[in-house]
Amino acid sequence: MRAIVIGDGGSLELREVPTPEPGPGQARVRVRACGVNRADLLQRRGLYPAPADAPQDIPGLEIAGEVEAVGSGTTDVRPGDRVYGIVSGGAYAEAVVVHARTLAPIPSVSGKPLGFVEAAAIPEAFLTAYDAMIVQCGLVAGETVLVHAVGSGVGTAAVQIARAIGARAIGTARSQDKLERARGLGLHAGIALEVNPDGAPRFATRVRESTDGRGADVVLELVGGAYVPESLASLAERGRVVLVGLMAGARADVDLGVVLRRRLRVFGTVLRSRPLEEKILAGQILARNISPLVAEGKLVPVVDRVLPLDRALEAQDLMASNANFGKIVLQVD
Ligand SMILES: NC(=O)c1ccc[n+]([C@@H]2O[C@H](COP(=O)([O-])OP(=O)(O)OC[C@H]3O[C@@H](n4cnc5c(N)ncnc54)[C@H](OP(=O)(O)O)[C@@H]3O)[C@@H](O)[C@H]2O)c1
Repeated sequence: MRAIVIGDGGSLELREVPTPEPGPGQARVRVRACGVNRADLLQRRGLYPAPADAPQDIPGLEIAGEVEAVGSGTTDVRPGDRVYGIVSGGAYAEAVVVHARTLAPIPSVSGKPLGFVEAAAIPEAFLTAYDAMIVQCGLVAGETVLVHAVGSGVGTAAVQIARAIGARAIGTARSQDKLERARGLGLHAGIALEVNPDGAPRFATRVRESTDGRGADVVLELVGGAYVPESLASLAERGRVVLVGLMAGARADVDLGVVLRRRLRVFGTVLRSRPLEEKILAGQILARNISPLVAEGKLVPVVDRVLPLDRALEAQDLMASNANFGKIVLQVD
């Protein structure tokens, strides 16, 4: 099969590689489309190695496609099934082998099966946002969530999930344009921040103004670094902040007194390194919690751009330039 392989010096090369064979309980999926994620950029730079059970040099964390073959004892899916889901790596390829129970059927919207490109834009972004906000932080109807980098793949998913469950989303971004577009997805209030990487972001006061002085109940911290002290200062009593991404850095100077006095809770999360049991659970959340909302039209995949697999480098460069609103998807012929 053909796959994009990370070469010397972080190059991305389309190469012929052996087609993987599914083992017991596994399925081989013919990949029709795969999403691009920030983690792929880090992996290429040698900063985010693949887990031991994943192809080490083929990036890609999410797929949509058709089951092509199954291993012995695999009963959850059959050849021909249209499926989507997260994978530990290897998605930038014509085929990938996964545990069958991590896959979910691609839903239909208004009686029409969702296309592979749209389906590939869902698993990583919507699962990350759903797991972080709802499962870990317990966000419920009537509460407010602050979503940073609101125009990102995860950010655009988070705003829609908040709206779907009856919560309010406030978002930050470094461009007015992304905030405007996020309003179309249900963003309640947008806060434009400085692009200057050295400028300390200031948004806690604005969050309080948007919440009648109360503060946010949950912060989806997709940026990290200097955002974190302000995120803590933005929280209401008993608020929760979940650290999901560290694009602005892994260090921050925080006032622990704020955490203590307001009785805050701080979580960290990663999807990729979770054990199989938890990946299967993620597949179930995709099938039982996210797909039905997609089918009802309450969650819509936001696809910024579609490029063919052999233009993976261009797709990653585009993401690194912060130009995308929502997801960049690679189409695999
Ligand atoms: N923990 C997990 O399991 C997990 C899973 C998926 C994603 N993530 C994390 O979630 C975040 C979003 O991922 P994604 O793939 O959805 O991203 P994405 O679509 O590439 O969007 C990222 C956006 O963040 C903003 N940004 C980039 N660098 C920034 C900085 N230094 N300061 C402030 N804003 C910055 C940019 O928007 P503006 O220019 O408009 O500000 C950029 O377009 C990333 O941190 C990623 O690592 C974590």
